[in-house]
Amino acid sequence: MDRIEKLLATMTLEEKIGQLVMAAGSQAVTGPVLGGDVTQDVRAGRVGSLLNFWGAEETRAIQAVAAESRLKIPLIIGFDVLHGHKTIFPVPLGEAAAFDPALWMATARAAAVEAAADGISMVFAPMLDVARDPRWGRIVEGAGEDPFVAVEFARAKIAGFQGADLADASAVAATAKHFCAYGAAEGGRDYASAEVSERALHEVYLPPFAAAVAAGCAAIMPAFMDLAGVPMTAHAALLQGWLRRAQGFEGVIVSDYNAIAELLRHGVAADLVDAAVLALKAGIDIDMMSGAYRAGLPKALDQGRVSIREIDAAVLRVLRLKERLGLFDDPCRRGKRSAGGEEARALAREAARRAIVLLVNDGVLPLSPSIKKIALIGPLADAGYEMDGPWAGASQRRSVSIREGLASALPGAEIAFAAGEGDDAQMAAELEACREAEIIVLSLGETAGMSGEAASRADLGLPDGQRALAEAALGLGKPVVALLSSGRPLTVPWLFERASAVLTTWFLGAEAGNAIAGVLTGRFNPVGRLPISWPRAVGQIPIFYAARPSGRPYSPDDPYTSNYLDLSVAPQFHFGHGLSYCPFTLANLRAERESFGPADTLQFSVEISNEGPMAGEATVFLFARDVVASVARPLLELKRFGKIALDAGESGVFRFALPASELAFPGLDFRPGIEPGVFEFSAGFSADAQKLLTLRLEAAGRNRIGA
Ligand code: GLC
Repeated sequence: MDRIEKLLATMTLEEKIGQLVMAAGSQAVTGPVLGGDVTQDVRAGRVGSLLNFWGAEETRAIQAVAAESRLKIPLIIGFDVLHGHKTIFPVPLGEAAAFDPALWMATARAAAVEAAADGISMVFAPMLDVARDPRWGRIVEGAGEDPFVAVEFARAKIAGFQGADLADASAVAATAKHFCAYGAAEGGRDYASAEVSERALHEVYLPPFAAAVAAGCAAIMPAFMDLAGVPMTAHAALLQGWLRRAQGFEGVIVSDYNAIAELLRHGVAADLVDAAVLALKAGIDIDMMSGAYRAGLPKALDQGRVSIREIDAAVLRVLRLKERLGLFDDPCRRGKRSAGGEEARALAREAARRAIVLLVNDGVLPLSPSIKKIALIGPLADAGYEMDGPWAGASQRRSVSIREGLASALPGAEIAFAAGEGDDAQMAAELEACREAEIIVLSLGETAGMSGEAASRADLGLPDGQRALAEAALGLGKPVVALLSSGRPLTVPWLFERASAVLTTWFLGAEAGNAIAGVLTGRFNPVGRLPISWPRAVGQIPIFYAARPSGRPYSPDDPYTSNYLDLSVAPQFHFGHGLSYCPFTLANLRAERESFGPADTLQFSVEISNEGPMAGEATVFLFARDVVASVARPLLELKRFGKIALDAGESGVFRFALPASELAFPGLDFRPGIEPGVFEFSAGFSADAQKLLTLRLEAAGRNRIGA
């Protein structure tokens, strides 16, 4: 028996169940049930972990209380560190726009350092829910619509949070969430059912979690919703079957907040005993905040509905995680660690710059250095606190506003500011500030509270009053640069048509204002690209590039094809769209071979040129399509992406290496395999099929080869 097994052998049932209970502290509210003083429960060994609790002193004190319990088992302390802890980085959907795994890992590492210094040993991140419905407020928390991007995001974030060794004082246990298909909630309404096909599960929603397991993610959190009638918190087939047995996940499964008790509301449990039985048998180790395990497991054991072996298995997983975190040796993990500090802010600035996507530009940007009079109008222009976005509970609340950033970047310019709120008279008076201006910068979009959990929207236009303000500003006949802060695409086609330039700035975090000013002035040539298709109207949703062809793919020449009578089927902006201040061109997509076998690695090259006038970075995508297969395959599937930096006038060659095994897809039996026949490979700067370079290769062989 090792140390953990010996410890287990000494535990009472109450102490065992205590290790399966995560209670909320009172420093942040992230669920329907408020936290409170859990000190007595910790002292009695009735709580094994806390959430929404941080601070070096506070956590040291509560670990000291845990040390007063009979067995002195230290606490795991968890918190939602989705995009930074004290130093806030861009929201994940914004960071995804950087298409930069090294950056994704770096910000997770910096967040882990700050969180660990605050006594946190588990973060409820990365969020890996693929989402194709921007009505869903939580689309902001993930990496967008594409499973390949979500896979790369998972790998980078888990490596950043966990580092090489969880016992390192600056490592934190990552929790991949929310397993799974939460992003497919009906109507984009948070917590609603997801009616997802088995095929979509295997092709879209499960791959990021398979990648998380393969990356050694310490924990996984099931989603709130039911998947075709089976609540994920009780989904034994996917949790025990697919996750633990098929993927070999040996880590901890922690429920979402109060989710076990909510099995009663789902209508699959009559009481907390039922709920506890369902959750334990499904593989849930830790009950976050519902009380179901504490109240239900003793009775379930008495009734013979669960066994002590099942309880012990869950307790062992929790204790082993605490051991891996080094908590038994030093509950406060005081080892060496570098602080956050200035380098974290510099990283926040770099991440923010790279997240910004220039959607429209008629040439008005970058701003001329000679510009002297700017009108900065809008309710978000001077609201640094709104720049953090959702899930920024421990933020230092020192985010640089757009107004501050512009003033700092253009000290010689006169920047007239007006919030642009109030009644018509007030707005008219404020727009007077625009009359002398050479250019108007409009700061519009969502507040942080309009994005994230429980923040679904049925209309994706601008919040009340902002359209009138924008129309009034556009009516002044001056160049208008619109900045859209949001956690999702906004359907404002009229703005894209009439503004001289539009940038999506998401929620950029601590250095928002400086990053935005850096792009507006041209000190930073924008590199951000959309990780999500941008709809023209809510009526197009769900809209995503990796659609299947259908038997009647859209054709402008044939009304009997898949389209709308009243709107284009094309998105406002394609997945991957984004402008720089220097056009790039693509030429000569080449492959090293014309046919391949399942064990080959395909080598591609493509020439990219920077047409000038300034140096910049192009983002290039490689898509694949299995033209004829046993199952209809998407028209495009992203298989690689990368960036190439080029000086003005410079050309370069970008190379992709793609193992043929990555062309496998779930067959009719959902087992992965590669099928012989023709494949198309396309390279481009976005998923706009009109602008792709495409070549065809032949997969040799006669039969489907299992991957
Ligand atoms: C919330 C969220 C989850 C979060 C947890 C703890 O309800 O669904 O993402 O990690 O509760 O705050």
